[in-house]
Amino acid sequence: MRSITSGRSVRVNGLIAPHGGTLINRVLTGEQRAEQQKIAESAKKVALDAFALSDLELIANGAFSPLTGFMGQADYASVVETMRLADGTVWSLPITLPVTQETAETIALGEIVALVGEDGVTYGTLEVTEKFIPDKAREAEMVYRTTDAAHPGVAKLFARPNVYLAGPVWLIEKKSDHDFQEFRFDPQETRALFAEKGWRSVVGFQTRNPVHRAHEYIQKCALEIVDGLFLNPLVGETKSDDIPADVRMESYQVLLKNYYPEKRVAFGVFPAAMRYAGPREAIFHAMVRKNFGCTHFIVGRDHAGVGDYYGTYDAQEIFRNFTAEELGILPLTFEHSFFCTKCGSMASTKTCPHGKEDHLTLSGTKVRAKLRAGESLPVEFTRPEVAEVLIRGLREKEAVK
Ligand code: ADX
Repeated sequence: MRSITSGRSVRVNGLIAPHGGTLINRVLTGEQRAEQQKIAESAKKVALDAFALSDLELIANGAFSPLTGFMGQADYASVVETMRLADGTVWSLPITLPVTQETAETIALGEIVALVGEDGVTYGTLEVTEKFIPDKAREAEMVYRTTDAAHPGVAKLFARPNVYLAGPVWLIEKKSDHDFQEFRFDPQETRALFAEKGWRSVVGFQTRNPVHRAHEYIQKCALEIVDGLFLNPLVGETKSDDIPADVRMESYQVLLKNYYPEKRVAFGVFPAAMRYAGPREAIFHAMVRKNFGCTHFIVGRDHAGVGDYYGTYDAQEIFRNFTAEELGILPLTFEHSFFCTKCGSMASTKTCPHGKEDHLTLSGTKVRAKLRAGESLPVEFTRPEVAEVLIRGLREKEAVK
């Protein structure tokens, strides 16, 4: 394997190096899998919620490299306090496995437990090296910058059980009935795909929303300077008033088909849970996309934000805490973008001299209300094909309620 430092990012065999240097793979196959399955059969069972199951899969397939398991106390405390793992590697969000006190008490240190999904399937194993009681108020304050239980990420943190189990994991079963199976790629696969396409630079785009014109504008600005775009919408757990992933999926495809050059775009889902941790989550999103093989990552206005908890550009400023070398991936920052009626085009506060009265902006809440009422959105805000798919999808959801 040949490593070279080109510009800001270390490259291995022509591709950006994964975070921490090695792409983790803890997905067992063949004999090793059979052996671990046997161990799991007679092991104590620990229940995983959807959030923890998605973390397990993303640890195992290397998306969360260099993590090899759920965090122990040293990494956890270091991440909460300093946004670094205990060895100094940049990492901004705790990745933990909360269990109840009763469950924790039945498990001895060094024991291997079976990790069981809500569907009763054993997905993996965990070698329990530590169990500890976190200071959740401190975690909330540091990670979410608030302890307000109205914040969806904080609410989730407090709602989950109170003891964290830690240790290395193995994945023995991939969820076979996953939604969007054909758009699920492990980091190894996206890396191979980008290499096959001959892309030397790839910009990752995170979203939990449909792609509106402002998103399209910043993606295409980025595409002017890099070889490829990896559109990577988050499809894990989101808050109940976000547009559901299954409704969004068709809208991405219709948009790509009609408005993007096919050869310049790769499309795959990001099956993580949304934390709504704003700035901290932006760092996390960037590191994970680096593991998928992206060299650049888009951070626009209020990335991964919710309500008024974060300043509009906090998620951009937080990157200044780290050197380009330790990040490895380059954040591409964009200011608030909109359609300007005077310019007659998409623009941003950086490029448009006109006032707010000339700018077409709609809040997320307004957009969702309009779509749910079956009202289309202005073409300057959303492509008509996209609005049509969203209205139909939301209507179908309502009908089955
Ligand atoms: S989220 O996952 O980051 O919460 P969202 O869809 O809101 O998803 O945003 C996706 C990306 O687009 C983020 O980087 C966000 O900062 C950026 N973004 C969203 N809307 C705008 C806008 N009007 N102008 C500039 N950037 C935007």
